[in-house]
Amino acid sequence: MKQYIVKDPWKIIEDRFHPEHNRITESLCSLGNGYFGQRGNFEEHYSGYTLQGNYISGIYYPDKTIVGWWKNGYPEYFAKVLNSVNWSSVDIWINKQRLDIAKCTIIAFNRTLDMRQGILYRSIELELPNGEKVKINTQRFCSYTCKELGAMQYSIESLSHDLEIRIRTFLDFDVKNEDANYDEKFWLEKDKKITKDGGYLISETKKTGFRVCASYKYIISGGDLSSDHKSIERDNYLGNETVVRLQKGESTNIQKLATITTSFHHPEANLAELSTDLLQYNTHLGYQNCLDQHISAWEQKWESSDIEIKGDVAAQQGIRFNIFHLNQSYTGENPDLNIGPKGFTGEKYGGSTYWDTEAYCLPYYQSTAPMKVSKNLLIYRYKHLQKAIENAAKLGFKDGAALYPMVTINGEECHNEWEITFEEIHRNGAIAYAIFEHARYTGDDSYLYEGGLEVLIAIARFWAQRVNWSQQKQKYVILGVTGPNEYENNVNNNWYTNVIATWSLEYCIACIDHVKEQDSVWAEIITKTNFDDTEINKWNDIKNQIYLPNNKELGIKLQQDGFLDKEIIPVSAIPNEETPINQHWSWDRILRSCYIKQADVLQGMYFLEDRFTTESIKKNFEFYEPLTVHESSLSPCVHAILACTIGKFEKAYEMYLRTARLDIDDYNNDTEDGLHITSMAGTWMSIVKGFAGMRVTDNMISFKPHLPEQWDSYSFKINFRGHLLHLGYDNKSLKIKNIATKELTLSINSETHTINSNEELVLINKS
Ligand code: BGC
Repeated sequence: MKQYIVKDPWKIIEDRFHPEHNRITESLCSLGNGYFGQRGNFEEHYSGYTLQGNYISGIYYPDKTIVGWWKNGYPEYFAKVLNSVNWSSVDIWINKQRLDIAKCTIIAFNRTLDMRQGILYRSIELELPNGEKVKINTQRFCSYTCKELGAMQYSIESLSHDLEIRIRTFLDFDVKNEDANYDEKFWLEKDKKITKDGGYLISETKKTGFRVCASYKYIISGGDLSSDHKSIERDNYLGNETVVRLQKGESTNIQKLATITTSFHHPEANLAELSTDLLQYNTHLGYQNCLDQHISAWEQKWESSDIEIKGDVAAQQGIRFNIFHLNQSYTGENPDLNIGPKGFTGEKYGGSTYWDTEAYCLPYYQSTAPMKVSKNLLIYRYKHLQKAIENAAKLGFKDGAALYPMVTINGEECHNEWEITFEEIHRNGAIAYAIFEHARYTGDDSYLYEGGLEVLIAIARFWAQRVNWSQQKQKYVILGVTGPNEYENNVNNNWYTNVIATWSLEYCIACIDHVKEQDSVWAEIITKTNFDDTEINKWNDIKNQIYLPNNKELGIKLQQDGFLDKEIIPVSAIPNEETPINQHWSWDRILRSCYIKQADVLQGMYFLEDRFTTESIKKNFEFYEPLTVHESSLSPCVHAILACTIGKFEKAYEMYLRTARLDIDDYNNDTEDGLHITSMAGTWMSIVKGFAGMRVTDNMISFKPHLPEQWDSYSFKINFRGHLLHLGYDNKSLKIKNIATKELTLSINSETHTINSNEELVLINKS
């Protein structure tokens, strides 16, 4: 764990430069607007420890796979979101010496991400190796109003006598991905035009042929501006150089606006025109107005999604940090986009879609954004259904069975480790579960008719073919799988996988019965899917005769057939210096150990809570949690929620801090690669579903609030079926305001209440 970030309710502050943690701070200070984003890199050249990153949603490259031993069924490529045009940098020479912060003596430093306004600031006072001293202030943002606009402001004050400052503003497509499998560059220049005050550059991705046009304009003011001007052009790069003289105490200021348009979002022929028009428009508006609009868009976003915690600044900073990055990563206008586990903050995971979206992210967007935002996440999978059927066919499944990829960007599988690609099939269950979750929460079942049922049928077919009948057990079994716990592979009867498989079959049957009531829709689905009624018989049979391992003596569900053959030693026995175990132990040692990467049995109990008694959840929690290393970011949030369900509030608080501050405090020693965006939605759930106990059952929303003893109060807003609910809880009372034109009946601590339109219910705490 690292604790160098200053605790503040709205800001991420690094108040002294930590070069050794620079990549972590760059990740933490990432900016984005759902359309494009970037790491919090320095504006100037920096030869120290850094990962340069600018990413644009949807723009990827199919990097040819590397594997040791090729196995049939592996995908040929891994699609990765590309490091793309660097639009926000400047290159500076001071008295002919190139500014490189890594080589300077730092006198004062502050890098601050203002999460309320979505702005990254830096201020630094430094001495160059040539003895000259300057003070630099920077500010930049990815506009939340005009999604194709980025802007930066950079000022240098001379702390020495008579400085010659050479400033180069530029656009650079000559960039690399650190994780490129063959050290290749992915961009081919197509066109460019340079003018004295900016220019545009169009580049195209190799193989996928995505075109991106970046345009920029800059203004320099202050100091003695020389008429020397130089344009620089090389492959995939253009820039403009200006020289300014500064006396001691004088400063010069650079403003740079850039627009980025892509063929993913617009017709290719118009990219340059669109990008330059947009730039023209925003230049006319002016930097300050662009900034003001951006700030007010963030204000509105916070209005609907903030969670306020009083009395615990670490917890407050954690949740806002998570909400901020969720809002930066996905804004839901386009069903062709999804949420990569690293968002726009790093290269790891390729920027692709995982089961994380359905299992973790959906509830956050459901409750804090208009319904079309979360529905687009479902539609994304419908659009990939055909590819999921082809993916299953490649593995030998037939008759319309679908296996959704573990990792994808365009519907095709990208992952190529057999134990995950072929075995981590539980992902199909999460995709079915999200359809259920959406209907349960919103009360809107339209997606079932618009493709959702086709998805469910294809998933049910997969499970029906993936099980086999065990003569010995006289039950259906699922062999050779990896459950959510990736620290065990090729196990038989992973309880979670068997449960989610049968649940998917059951839910699909229920949805068929529901949709059947509309003859014409059902007839169309039969034609599209070639559905045969007898399929249901097999599904029912599997559902009734599935093997679900458990141990009566311990009162637990068994993670997999052989789990109890392992030596059961709690995580607390692992010496601190050996954690995280995935960075210290051999894979072989991990596989043989009893240590669990993330919620597995408990993931099933979280999803299907209604099916288990609190006593059973408690027994399983008490057995499995001490064996869990939480080395997936997705783990602590599920544990926080379940800990609240069973009344273990101290544990819930510990897990809450772990999920909320996972990146800020670098719990898993991997924030340098980027942030854990998808688990951030889990952090939000830890409060709303955990401490506030929000559930939706039989069309009614309910709460069972608890106040962690470290907090004075918390409050948040959620959308629920046309109501905006504002819940506030402190040790005196619970207040819920129903901002809506209609009344709402809800349950609080198992008692039913009705709140009239625009009224507030106040319940005084008895204890
Ligand atoms: C987890 C997976 C998850 C992936 C992306 C892995 O470490 O084990 O469950 O889908 O990260 O977040």
